[in-house]
Amino acid sequence: MTDDPLLQPFALKHLTLRNRVFSAAHEPAYSEDGMPKDRYRLYHVEKARGGIGLTMTAGSAVVSRDSPPAFGNLHAYDDAIVPWLRRLTDDVHSHGTACMIQLTHLGRRTGWGTGDWLPVLAPSPVREPAHRSIPKQAEDWDLERIVADYADAAERMRAGGMDGVEIEGYGHLLDQFWSPLTNRRTDEFGGSLENRISLVQNVLRAVRKQVGDDFVVGLRMAVDERLPGGVDADTGLRILAILEAEHLIDFVNVIRGNVATEVDLTEVIPIHGMPSAPHLEFCRGVKAATALPVLHSAKIDETSTARYAISEGILDLVGMTRAHIADPHIVRRLVAGQEARIRPCVGATYCLDRIYEAGEALCIHNAATSREATMPHDVPRAERTRRVVVVGAGPAGLEAARVAGERGHEVVVLEAMGRPGGQLLLAVRNRRRGDLIGIVDWRVAELDRLGIEVRCDVLAERDDVLALDPDVVIVATGGLARLPELEAGARHLVTGWEVLGGEVHPRGEVLLYDDNGSHSAMSAAELIARSGAALEIVTPERMLGVEVGGMNHVPYARAFNEAGVRVTLNQRVRAVHRENGRLRVELGSEHTGHRSLRWVDHVVADHGTDVNDELYQVLRAASSNHGAVDYPALLTGRVQSVVRNPDGRFQLFRIGDAVAGRNVHAAVFDALRLVKDV
Ligand SMILES: Cc1cc2nc3c(=O)[nH]c(=O)nc-3n(C[C@H](O)[C@H](O)[C@H](O)COP(=O)(O)O)c2cc1C
Ligand code: SF4
Repeated sequence: MTDDPLLQPFALKHLTLRNRVFSAAHEPAYSEDGMPKDRYRLYHVEKARGGIGLTMTAGSAVVSRDSPPAFGNLHAYDDAIVPWLRRLTDDVHSHGTACMIQLTHLGRRTGWGTGDWLPVLAPSPVREPAHRSIPKQAEDWDLERIVADYADAAERMRAGGMDGVEIEGYGHLLDQFWSPLTNRRTDEFGGSLENRISLVQNVLRAVRKQVGDDFVVGLRMAVDERLPGGVDADTGLRILAILEAEHLIDFVNVIRGNVATEVDLTEVIPIHGMPSAPHLEFCRGVKAATALPVLHSAKIDETSTARYAISEGILDLVGMTRAHIADPHIVRRLVAGQEARIRPCVGATYCLDRIYEAGEALCIHNAATSREATMPHDVPRAERTRRVVVVGAGPAGLEAARVAGERGHEVVVLEAMGRPGGQLLLAVRNRRRGDLIGIVDWRVAELDRLGIEVRCDVLAERDDVLALDPDVVIVATGGLARLPELEAGARHLVTGWEVLGGEVHPRGEVLLYDDNGSHSAMSAAELIARSGAALEIVTPERMLGVEVGGMNHVPYARAFNEAGVRVTLNQRVRAVHRENGRLRVELGSEHTGHRSLRWVDHVVADHGTDVNDELYQVLRAASSNHGAVDYPALLTGRVQSVVRNPDGRFQLFRIGDAVAGRNVHAAVFDALRLVKDV
C-alpha cells in the first residue's frame, strides 16, 4: 500500500473513491445534439483508464429548456440522455472510477439566440457582461417549473448510472438569486439572505426527495464572490452552514471569485503567468468551518501542490482538471513511480478559450485528448523498425520524434538552432508566457528517455539527410516571419519576431501593425508597451487579437490599459516613408477612400509566417512519394503508401508551419496523426 496522500481512498457518503484526485466539471463541448455520445464517453473513459478517482462529467448540464446551452452543454432535461449516460457511466465504472455530473440552470449566463430561443431569465433584469443577455425577471411559475426541472434532471442522472450530481452555484441561476448584486427582488425570493437562498433550498430539497439518500448531492459554490456588495466569505460560509445544517448537501466544491467578466473568470481559473493554486489558503478556512468534504480546483497543476493540499488537510479531494486534459494518465503515472513523465498542463488555456469561441476544448499540446477514438494516448509499437530523420525541433518536429520513438523506430533529429523549441523559444521571451516551455521540455525529456538524439546547430542540407540513409524523412522546419504587402516602404518594417527575439528594441513612438491577429503580434505589443514606448496598435480586424481567445486576451488588455496603448481597428498600413529621420505611415481601410497619417519612430508588423520549405523542396525528387500525402489514409489511420517515384529510397513528409503557418496544436496534431501510422 502506497503512502502517497494523493493515492489514499476517500469515503464520500456511501462511495469509496480510490484516490483523492478528481477532474472538476467542465463542458468541453464534445456533446452531439446535447448528448454525451462516443467522443464524450471516450474522453472520460481515458481518465478512468488513467486512474483518476472521480470524474465530474459535463459542465453545466442544463436542467431546463429555457437555459439555452452556452457552449455545447448537455441536455439534462431530455429523457434521451439516459441511455447515453448509462454507456458512459458503465465504462467509467468498469475502470474503478466514480462518475458524477454537474447540473445547472444558467440563468443570465447564456445567450438567447441558441437552443429554443426561449427568453433568458434571472432573478432580476441585470445583464451579465460576459454573455450580454438582458434577462427577463423570473416569475413564480418559472421558479416552480425550474425546481421541478432540477429534480427530474437529477432523477435522469441517477437512471443513467451516475454516482451523484453537483449543483452549480457560481455565476448561474441559483447564486444569481443569493447574490445581492443580481437579485433586486422585493418578493419572497429577494431581500433578506433567508429569502435569497430559498430557491437553492427548494431545489436541493426537491432533488433529495426525488433521488433518495443513497445518491451523492453536492454543491459547487462561490463562497466569496470577491465583488463589492456581493456575497463575501462570511455570508458564503453562512449559506453553507444553513445548507449543511439541513443535510441538503454531501460535499462542497469551493469557488472563490465570480465569472461575470473575462477578467474575473481568469481569477477563478488562472491561466499561465498567474500564480498556481491561488485559493488554497482560502479553502483551508472553508475546511475549518464545515464538516462536509471539501473539493476545489484552480490551477493546481502539479502533483506536488495537489499532494500538499491533501496532506495538509486543506482539501479532501483535489481537482486537477486541465492537468487531466493535458495528461489523462496522471494517477497511473503516480502509481508507476513515473511522476516526472506526466505531460504538464502549461496553463495556455487554449482549451477553455476555444469553447467560448464556439469550438471544442482542445489541449494546446496533447492532440489525442478528445480524439480518443482515433488518436492514441499510448502510442503502440510498430511491427518493423524504420530509420526516421526529423528535421526541425519545434513543437511539430519534437512531437514527430517522440511518436516515432514510441513506435520503436530509430530516430535522429536535426535542428538548425542551438536548442530545441522553434517558435516557442520566441513565445517565451515574453516572460509571462514562460510556462509554455513545458511543451518543449517535456518532449525533450521524453526523447531522452527514448534514447533519441537531438543534434542542434545542424543546418541540414539534402546530402546531410541522405547520408543518414533514412526510410522516412519528416521535414518540420517551421516558418519564417512574413511581412504584409504595402504600396511602398515595406523595407522600413521590422517584424514582431525581431522584437520578441530581442534583436530590435523599439523606442519612442511605435506603431505595431497586426495583420495576423495571433499571439505573436499581441505578445510583441505587450513587450513594447511594457518597455515604456508610446504604442499604437493598428489592425484591419474589427477586434484586437482576433485569433487570441477571451481569457488569453486579459493580460494583454491589462498591459495595454496600464501603458495607455492606443488601439485603432479597421485600418491597414498602406505605405511607410522615411522622412527627416522619422517614419510617415499612411493608414487606409476598405471601408472608405480616406487616408490618415501617423509619424512614428518604428513600425513593427506581423503578418503570420511563410513556409521554410527549402529542404523539403530539394528532397522531393529523391523521395518515393515526392512528398505526397494520401489524405484518406491519413484521416482513417492507414499507412501512407503513395509511390510516385519507384526509385525513391525514402518517404518524405512535412508537417507544422513548414506546410502552412498555423499554431502549436496544429503542429503537434500534424505530427501525431501522421507518425502514429509510420
Ligand atoms: C473547457 C472547460 C470548461 C469548463 N466548464 C465548466 C463548467 O461548465 N462548470 C464549472 O463549474 N466549471 C467549468 N470549468 C472550470 C473547471 O471546473 C475548473 O474549475 C477550472 O478548469 C480550474 O481548475 P483546473 O485548474 O484544475 O483546470 C471549465 C473548465 C474548462 C477547462
Ligand atoms: S490547453 Fe493549456 S491549459 Fe488547457 S489543458 Fe492544455 S496545457 Fe492545460
